Amino acid sequence: MSEEIRKGLVGVVADTTAISKVNPETNSLLYRGYPVQELAEHCTFEEVAYLLWHGELPTQLELTAMEGEGRAQRAMDDRVRAAVDLVPTTAHPMDVVRTAVSVIGANDPRAEDRSSDYSKAVSLLSQIPAVIAYDQRRRRGQQLVPPREDLGFVENFLNMTFGEVPDDVVVDAFQVSLILYAEHSFNASTFTARVITSTLADLYSAVVGAIGALKGTLHGGANEAVMHVFDEIGEASRAEEWLDAALAEKRKIMGFGHRVYKKGDSRVPTMKAALDRLVEHYDRPDVLALYDALEHAMVARKDIRPNLDYPSGPAYHLMGFDTPTFTPLFVAARVVGWTAHVMEQAADNALIRPLSDYSGPDERHLPA
Ligand code: COA
Repeated sequence: MSEEIRKGLVGVVADTTAISKVNPETNSLLYRGYPVQELAEHCTFEEVAYLLWHGELPTQLELTAMEGEGRAQRAMDDRVRAAVDLVPTTAHPMDVVRTAVSVIGANDPRAEDRSSDYSKAVSLLSQIPAVIAYDQRRRRGQQLVPPREDLGFVENFLNMTFGEVPDDVVVDAFQVSLILYAEHSFNASTFTARVITSTLADLYSAVVGAIGALKGTLHGGANEAVMHVFDEIGEASRAEEWLDAALAEKRKIMGFGHRVYKKGDSRVPTMKAALDRLVEHYDRPDVLALYDALEHAMVARKDIRPNLDYPSGPAYHLMGFDTPTFTPLFVAARVVGWTAHVMEQAADNALIRPLSDYSGPDERHLPA
């Protein structure tokens, strides 16, 4: 076979998309043409979700209609709760979210109806926070906090998790993280969702598969893994020594590097600014000192820069989320991007099926 093999599909342009544009040269990320930093500064997560799904920011009327549809579906269905309760707390919270989405899909009579994909996307976005919040609470031995329809998406999510709406600085930082996590072109989980959609499978199957892809530490699992690294290092003064030992063992340093961005991740400055505000709010300069020390050491040793998971990991920690809950929070945001891509793929579908170069034994035969 003479075709060039691009292991990991590095540099392969698999299709067009109108949803987002990642430009590593200018270090920019556009959602439907808008720089993500501007959206994070001026918009709510719901407005950004609408933009990603529809291509334009909503009018007040459109936003109210979408929010109305979503808010009415925030409560966890009894069947979903029963399924969550069947998953042991020894299992990772990503397994819980994956299971819950599967059960939500299996109970939706519209599952196979492509024309209701947008409605399903709104409904999934609304239902996932209740699962994540309840799962963290049950692991802590706490009671479920029911959703409130009078609150925005972010405030309600935090209220269901912690039993109260925290200060604005926390709400804003969480909102910024969700906006930054919402979409990122053909990353591994989104591509998974598109592959599944390309077989004409339903939206829920695509999202379940995407959750599986996001779980790995080379992708979404990195925000959790960053916190384990922080715990392992302990304090800023140990960062350099820890890094040298880790690099000597050829470990990948979680929260650093990116397949597309080689000069730094466009989303990091916005999330880092949110982390700075949280550090001040919670009076935790030690977290910032460790953050800076590891970043400086990594840049000095390898010239590899942080990705979004690096500031979001400690930010979620300061907000009070348990470390294993971090990647499910990524799901709660990225489900917007995944479902936007499912709809885009379905609208102009071609089965995604690459070739492989066989490297096994030559043809041989069973003994006569
Ligand atoms: N820690 C240590 N070394 C790293 C590294 C990291 N986080 N990221 C990249 N490198 C090294 C690679 O091992 C490679 O070294 P080599 O040339 O000696 O083999 C070199 O830098 C170039 O790697 P590159 O080809 O640019 O990486 P990639 O595109 O295959 O991988 C990631 C991208 C994201 C998988 C990789 O950077 C990584 O594993 N990061 C940690 C996990 C993480 O934070 N994931 C979230 C991504 S948003």
